[in-house]
Amino acid sequence: MQGKDVGPALIIGIFMVGFAGGPSVNELGSAEKGDPVSGREIYVNTCMRCHGIDGKGRQDIHLVPPPADLTAARVQNRLDGGLFKRIHGGKPNTAMGAWQHALSDEEIWDVVAYIRTLGMEAGTPP
Ligand code: HEC
Repeated sequence: MQGKDVGPALIIGIFMVGFAGGPSVNELGSAEKGDPVSGREIYVNTCMRCHGIDGKGRQDIHLVPPPADLTAARVQNRLDGGLFKRIHGGKPNTAMGAWQHALSDEEIWDVVAYIRTLGMEAGTPP
């Protein structure tokens, strides 16, 4: 009798593995795919002028709202996919622009990976 229950569970398991490898994987990808070394270069060239060398956000440029502190828990707590979307599409009504035309998806994942290292350096728990 118990053996009968294994079948459906196995089929669901196989289905989910197949699903995870589907075309939506890029949307739901993770910073593990990103290269933080390349991400650092992109960050220095495109993000640092607002978010600062340490990621804490420059306060001396007087933006309203000020650039986010990328080392803060409220940023580090977000899923990789959420950070990706924010960088890709920007944040409405702030100086945070959409980088989807300037950066490739791969470059955005690299930057997300680098933002994770900024959080670790600042000692923010993931
Ligand atoms: C012109 C200044 C500016 C530049 C350049 C800039 N940002 Fe931002 N960023 C902001 C501002 C302003 C916010 C919004 C802060 C807030 O909502 O409190 C922000 C927010 C963010 C957030 C948090 C979004 C959220 O949902 O809270 C992330 C992550 C981020 N920026 C990453 C980046 C990355 C990566 C780059 C470079 C590709 C970049 N930013 C370039 C100004 C900038």
